[in-house]
Amino acid sequence: MRIAVVGTGYVGLVTGTCFAEVGIDVTCIDIDVNKIENLKKGILPIYEPGLEEMVMRNTQKERLSFSNDLATSIQGCDVAFIAVGTPPGEDGSADLKHVLAVARAIGQHMTNYVVVVTKSTVPVGTANKVRTAIEQELEKRGANIPFDVASNPEFLKEGAAIDDFLKPDRIVVGVASQRAEEVMSKLYKPFLMNGHPLIFMDIPSAEMTKYAANAMLATKISFMNDIANLCEIMGADVNMVRKGIGSDVRIGNKFIYPGIGYGGSCFPKDVKALIKTASENGYEMRVLKSVEEVNENQKSVLFNKINNHFKGELAGKTFAVWGLSFKPKTDDMREAPSLVIINKLLEQGAKVKAYDPVAMKEASHTLGNTVEYGKDEYETLIDADALLLVTEWPEFRSPNFNVVSRLMKDKVVFDGRNIYDAAEMREKGFVYYGIGVKQ
Ligand code: UGA
Repeated sequence: MRIAVVGTGYVGLVTGTCFAEVGIDVTCIDIDVNKIENLKKGILPIYEPGLEEMVMRNTQKERLSFSNDLATSIQGCDVAFIAVGTPPGEDGSADLKHVLAVARAIGQHMTNYVVVVTKSTVPVGTANKVRTAIEQELEKRGANIPFDVASNPEFLKEGAAIDDFLKPDRIVVGVASQRAEEVMSKLYKPFLMNGHPLIFMDIPSAEMTKYAANAMLATKISFMNDIANLCEIMGADVNMVRKGIGSDVRIGNKFIYPGIGYGGSCFPKDVKALIKTASENGYEMRVLKSVEEVNENQKSVLFNKINNHFKGELAGKTFAVWGLSFKPKTDDMREAPSLVIINKLLEQGAKVKAYDPVAMKEASHTLGNTVEYGKDEYETLIDADALLLVTEWPEFRSPNFNVVSRLMKDKVVFDGRNIYDAAEMREKGFVYYGIGVKQ
């Protein structure tokens, strides 16, 4: 089989590379000349564990190639994935201009039957717009080439994307013809070894599945953040409550970790987009509106604790920040709660010394030199009035606390992810604040 993947961002690059890994002939296409030149040299635009090696291996085996030329690359393909960005517009709705531009380009240049698949997260109804855009271009050319559209939402998590793609829990494909279903079945056959299902459905349901999945996960997080905040007020410990409810399989023990709010490029964007889609169609997503509101508030929870502890006197204080990316194992800074916390501290005249294992370069695009970047996590602690644990990178889980206390001016820890044990920290002589744990 031959496929084209248009868009070499996070989803497109992982998708293309993983299909090549199982032996499919893949061309990844992007209009960004620099990006493609770099990819040809093995330089990736994102950090994702294992991806660089996989790109190199498949490029060498000539199963994976990169191109700026959609017109040529689309010819002879069985499937064309559209994996370009859908940035949120001013009003929160997904902007489809890139998706539809790709659809038009496919319509202008395709020479044979192809299944055109939306892989980006797109609102319900987008596949139909893609179909119309392609039809219009074919009509202009006077070409009578059959094609199908399909929706194949992506469920991969940053930091675990390769595993998620190669061993998916499920693959969801929305189709409107038997022919497209057959092509997609053949394409995904190598990924079904672990017995998880390939679920075919109609196109709008597939499009909705993606939003419903992310919205449900975001809801779990905001719900737990609300419970955590109440735990603090009532003198309960959310870590215990989490274990207590998580062992009920109907609830499940995943995605019930409270923290400083969800971030990243997906949950915030998709929750907003679903609220918007609903309101445009005369329906109000009341639960999701609250999910969003709780999340916005939660980003300030750690700052409020700091402000209370220091009685509002933050000017001139130095804060060590461990972790900047929105979650571990990624350099993604989009909607990262660290930015909200750091900006609030800076506004109060505090000094911030930050360290992140991979996201410092990315963070510097936004934070510039308003913060000092440490060589390692310990260096940030020198003369710090408090330590803020913001992203739960594995290397922060078990630091040498003797060294930590020696380096810090004041032994105060604000743990935004509850990775340390409150009782142990207090035994070690730290003033410890977690999320939803007794102070
Ligand atoms: C999310 C979904 O998990 C993927 O299934 C989906 O494919 C992806 O969005 C997407 O739409 O492309 P991702 O944004 O990479 O993946 O990150 P997650 O691991 O889901 O974490 C999202 C946020 O939730 C992070 O800020 C994380 O810190 C937070 N979180 C997660 C919590 O606060 N508590 C939890 O228990 C779990």
